[in-house]
Amino acid sequence: MSYQTEYDRSMQDPEGFWRKQAEALEWYRFPQQILHTDADGIGHWFADGEMNTAYMALDHHVKNGRGDQVAIIYDSPVTDTRKQYTYAELTDAVARTAGMLADLGVVKGDRVIIYMPMIPEAVIAMLAVARLGAIHSVVFGGFAPPELAVRIDDAKPKVILTASCGIEVKRVIEYKPLLDKAFDLARHKPQSCVIYQRPQATSQLTAGRDHDWNSLLAQAKPVGCTPVKGSDPLYILYTSGTTGKPKGVVRENGGHAVALNYSMKAIYNVEHGDVFWAASDVGWVVGHSYIVYGPLLHGCTTVVYEGKPIMTPDAGALWRVISEYGVKSFFTAPTAFRAVKKEDPEAKLMADYDLSKLQVIFSAGERLDPPTQQWLTEKSGKTVVDHWWQTETGWGITANLWGVEPKPVKLGSSTLPTPGFDVRILDESGKQLARNEQGYIALKLPLPPSCLNRVWGDDNKFRDSYLQFLPGYYTTGDGGYIDEDGYVFVMGRVDDVINVAGHRLSTGEIEEVVAAHPSVAECAVIARDDELKGQVPMGLVVLKSGASIGEEALQKELVARIRDNIGAIACYKDTVILKRLPKTRSGKTLRKTLNKIVNGQEYQVPSTIDDPGVIPEIIETLRSKGYAK
Ligand code: COA
Ligand code: AMP
Repeated sequence: MSYQTEYDRSMQDPEGFWRKQAEALEWYRFPQQILHTDADGIGHWFADGEMNTAYMALDHHVKNGRGDQVAIIYDSPVTDTRKQYTYAELTDAVARTAGMLADLGVVKGDRVIIYMPMIPEAVIAMLAVARLGAIHSVVFGGFAPPELAVRIDDAKPKVILTASCGIEVKRVIEYKPLLDKAFDLARHKPQSCVIYQRPQATSQLTAGRDHDWNSLLAQAKPVGCTPVKGSDPLYILYTSGTTGKPKGVVRENGGHAVALNYSMKAIYNVEHGDVFWAASDVGWVVGHSYIVYGPLLHGCTTVVYEGKPIMTPDAGALWRVISEYGVKSFFTAPTAFRAVKKEDPEAKLMADYDLSKLQVIFSAGERLDPPTQQWLTEKSGKTVVDHWWQTETGWGITANLWGVEPKPVKLGSSTLPTPGFDVRILDESGKQLARNEQGYIALKLPLPPSCLNRVWGDDNKFRDSYLQFLPGYYTTGDGGYIDEDGYVFVMGRVDDVINVAGHRLSTGEIEEVVAAHPSVAECAVIARDDELKGQVPMGLVVLKSGASIGEEALQKELVARIRDNIGAIACYKDTVILKRLPKTRSGKTLRKTLNKIVNGQEYQVPSTIDDPGVIPEIIETLRSKGYAK
């Protein structure tokens, strides 16, 4: 089968194409209606099918004789632990954990927040929630209490599942104080919290609210799977948009299971029994799709890695895991490769490991910059594939379909549209642009299975945020072009979203924290290019008149505020005090111009600028501090 035939089929007969993919899964009742497109052009897939995602991912394999196959390999260099679960063991653990949640009153449709580090219990918790037909919302362990509180208030969970601590390279991060603070901040009060006690820290339980995970689990009975509709939500995952408030992307059970199962073979070329590793975190969409659901739906062995690409203990960590477990398909973010490249430029540590089982290296999370792609290809001797996707889609919008027909790699391109995705480059009037012309990357509606069709808790948000700008299309928020061979080049965000080490953050949200400082009159947070992390936020600040704080002191205070309000992962480190910000006559801050100045790019001062004299003044200040070129 050629890529083109596969892609054309998905465009010409989407229902036939996806019906066939849906047949690969074990439904309780196969959907009668494959796709319903509503009046707004929004697609609803497999809505009347009956199923359970945890059943498809676990029980189904046990029933089909794969109970003894390893489902999860847990490898934790930070605790020096290794553990494996077979499909039968994982199914039992999930069924009992679901029983524990049922004892706490969790039923179909209830929300459960999971705020946990990268331990098997996090994966078990996700699947246990799915088993009950409830809806999980995983909050990345690196988020600070206000971020957790926002998600508690939006998702309104009945229960929170957490652990006593996460383990970072330099420190143990206790979760209980973070949880308590989030509880204080949130208006919604979940009924119970279940805490998994780890040996590195013990949490004092709050009476009447907290339960010890293992004690509760010891009393729980395993429970079966609750059937849900294909259109029922499996999870809500919050992601940064252009406003300060994160959006709850709703993932439906049916489309998600079908698309992910398809992608495992089509994109990653893995079969039952193959070892697949996505080095990410279950707090991100990559972790949801390719640490948990994709590999398990497809009957693969997945690696849950609690460590970093470097420092745990060295830049050979990725290669060690790949060789030790015979990983066939590997996936991580470019920042991880850049970190390895920086520590071990000659890839000397790679030579210690047998990478013969590894077929392809996949990268996503941000654009894979050509020098890193070249370096990795040269050092590993493997094909390195960039593919592009978003929390909203849950899987690759563009990719190199390694299990269908591998296409030549073009440096800097995330390859070709994945079946089901009609990728267009448009200008702001919705006109399609010619090949090689750069514009907004939009996806023609309806979107394929797995993509969001609503935002949690707000009936209009999906239309308002994604569909209004270019009618008939989903706006990705990314800009780029398609070349003469149909290869897609994603060049970066066209909105206020930034990407720090593969983590998506909103400059608006960071700005809110900076602006709340008592000495700050106004500010603009922009993204500065960073060799390791891709981008890092930087605050350009105007002080209130009479404020006497120095730049260094302000910087320290802002760093602390960002860490306390958003999390250390925001990597906020730079603050520059300016006399004034450049504004349009209508009072809008010219963030794009500031961005270009800081990153040494060519810029044009818009004719709408209120006072052109402000630009040279800012350049001089930035230059004197080593920021502008
Ligand atoms: N819980 C609590 N804190 C966390 C955390 C977590 N789960 N993850 C990161 N942090 C903290 C770190 O401890 C660090 O804090 P510090 O400033 O006090 O040292 C801060 O957040 C920044 O972390 P990180 O971005 O991991 O930077 P780093 O300098 O420690 O490591 C890399 C650099 C490249 C090794 C790291 O960014 C990395 O592993 N990147 C891969 C990214 C990835 O997998 N992205 C997923 C999308 S596919
Ligand atoms: P997230 O929702 O956190 O997965 O972030 C999605 C955003 O990350 C996209 O909208 C892009 O801006 C960026 N991104 C992810 N993968 C790629 C890629 N391969 N190339 C370019 N940008 C990417």
